[in-house]
Amino acid sequence: MISLGIEGTAHSIGIGIIQDVKGKCNVLSNNIKTYSPGKGGIHPREAANHHATYIADLISESVKKTQIDFSDIDLVSFSQGPGLGPCLRTAATAARALALALDKPIMGVNHCVAHLEIGRGTINGCKDPVLLYVSGANTQVIAFAEGKYRVFGETLDVGIGNCLDKFGRFMGMEFPCGPKIEELAKKGQKYLKLPYSIKGMDIAFSGLLTSAEQYVRKGEKLEDTCFSIQETTFAALTEVTERAIAHTEKNEVLLGGGVASNKRLRDMVKTMAQERYASFFVPSQDLCIDNGAMIAWLGFLMYNSGIRMSIEESVIDQRFRTDMVDVSWRE
Ligand code: ATP
Ligand code: FE2
Repeated sequence: MISLGIEGTAHSIGIGIIQDVKGKCNVLSNNIKTYSPGKGGIHPREAANHHATYIADLISESVKKTQIDFSDIDLVSFSQGPGLGPCLRTAATAARALALALDKPIMGVNHCVAHLEIGRGTINGCKDPVLLYVSGANTQVIAFAEGKYRVFGETLDVGIGNCLDKFGRFMGMEFPCGPKIEELAKKGQKYLKLPYSIKGMDIAFSGLLTSAEQYVRKGEKLEDTCFSIQETTFAALTEVTERAIAHTEKNEVLLGGGVASNKRLRDMVKTMAQERYASFFVPSQDLCIDNGAMIAWLGFLMYNSGIRMSIEESVIDQRFRTDMVDVSWRE
């Protein structure tokens, strides 16, 4: 089966085309175009306009690149939520138009679940992981339990990526700030004490953000501040992930989301996994960030398990929670 997936939850519009091969995901193409606000944060309407401008050409290019015909597409999948309303609506509208034009079924999927399933679908040995999903807006520790993907821990305020971007913006850096902070952190030598706030299994970042800004105002080096932000936030993320592993008794850890590119975070989580004799997995970069291939793959899994969706049911859900999905495609 060939599935085309449209991702449009936030600042990226992605078109992915996948084919299932013996239960695994074969990515035929995966094209992503990202809206950059230049200065300031992401403006939902502007991001949606960006997506609307490029989506038709991106679909055509992707089909051409894959060397298939439109008639070869068996299913049109799209990101139904969670995300920014205007962006979600743009992707959903394109998906409906394409499904109707091709006379093919449509499938709306949960974006967070897609981040987990693409790891299982593309990485050998990744069967039942605890996912540490770290992106701009989202920060969640997710694992399968009793028919659903449960959120074992999450941020109580901003996502880790947004936390890094907010600090970066305060320092005058351009979006995305995560990679720039990572570079500066490599030169940091002094650890500055920052609030480490874990509440139960959840994490909060806003207090840390305020403290970090104060350090810079007081004249502490930017390199040391970036180093301390990474050490503190990543340690908290690793701790919550470790607790989820202990609780669920799973022995695989998967990273996902844009912040998973960070080498220091990878090292910390990998060390923790090794100490627990658990396997550690990270999908390739283009499957870690928001992308259409993961949407296409989850759409296929759902369709293949017998789930069907009418056009009327394809309404977006900005607050589509991970644990609202009935995971009928897993035992
Ligand atoms: P979502 O809609 O799932 O929340 P998103 O729109 O934020 O995702 P992603 O591409 O998953 O998009 O992640 C982008 C985030 O990743 C940005 O906040 C960016 O600063 C951060 N990021 C990217 N590379 C790095 C890095 N090397 N270190 C830390 N953060 C990074
Ligand atoms: Fe994402």
